[in-house]
Amino acid sequence: MKEMVLKALYDKKGDYISGEELAAILGVSRTAIWKHINQIKLDGYNIETAKKGYRILEGHEKLLPMEIKSKLKQHKIGERIIHFESIDSTNDHAKKIAYEAKEGTIIISEEQLSGRGRLGRNWSSPKGEGIWMSIILKPAIPPAEASRLTQVAAAAVCNGIRSTTGLDALIKWPNDIVVKSKKVCGILTEMAGELNEVSYIIVGIGINVNIGFFPADLESKATSLYKEKGKKINRVQLISTIIDEFTALYDAFVVDKDFTKTLNVCRQHSAILGKNIYLVRGEDNKEQVLALDITDDGLLRVRKSTGEELEIASGEVSIRGEGQYI
Ligand code: BTN
Repeated sequence: MKEMVLKALYDKKGDYISGEELAAILGVSRTAIWKHINQIKLDGYNIETAKKGYRILEGHEKLLPMEIKSKLKQHKIGERIIHFESIDSTNDHAKKIAYEAKEGTIIISEEQLSGRGRLGRNWSSPKGEGIWMSIILKPAIPPAEASRLTQVAAAAVCNGIRSTTGLDALIKWPNDIVVKSKKVCGILTEMAGELNEVSYIIVGIGINVNIGFFPADLESKATSLYKEKGKKINRVQLISTIIDEFTALYDAFVVDKDFTKTLNVCRQHSAILGKNIYLVRGEDNKEQVLALDITDDGLLRVRKSTGEELEIASGEVSIRGEGQYI
């Protein structure tokens, strides 16, 4: 019922709706509506109460599901959004509910207490300063193609950051987004399934949006959109743009079997193509190569100093740039 009251408020797009009208639409008493409104306020939504009734206002600090949903152009991915104040890891929660959850369910948290990065690393996720989210997907694709969803997500985040902030975001193949050579976003894709069938894929996305300070050890490698732009970024606007971008590229890939839309973004906004990079396969195994292209299958084609060309799959190696982070 609370959800229905919220939806009725959002349907009015900022205009008032009286308690009487709400009660009539939803078939409950005005007192029941009043109780739900109080509960919705406690959840963090900004509701103004006046003689004319109630209206929803924007401008609060949280990633509230109904506000995000009210901005989405589509209702496939993000039809269900589960929001937490605090959680261990949105990817871990997504895994817990993945079998029962509908495709496109999104888990968001204002903070993560044990956010996870790739290769068993920690992912710092301070409260209210980032986008820490996981998308549950159930695509009919061969498991071998699951890693392409990392690139779909990278392209969506890159486009979303560029259009929302105007910053020159670039993709460090396959799963980082960088601004001015420093990391602003990482993607952690996890899959469960059989040899030839995907049960579910979780795409975890962490974006440093409004983080003001980084610890000394991260300062040279990581940044936030706020630090680069010099002003706070509206997280609701950013996340809804990214979800819509993701849906368009995901549908093209999974439904229309067209991965080129994603590839085009990854190539056009690549941070590494045409540059010398290091392939890192462990502590002492660092090899310098030239990044040539991303193949139609999403592999990274590189040229060794010997002239030999290789195609690298994501997950095989880490990539480092020369000097700076990328
Ligand atoms: C990386 O660059 O190493 C990947 C970082 C992925 C972080 C996100 S934040 C939301 C989701 N939940 C997690 O625990 N990790 C991912």
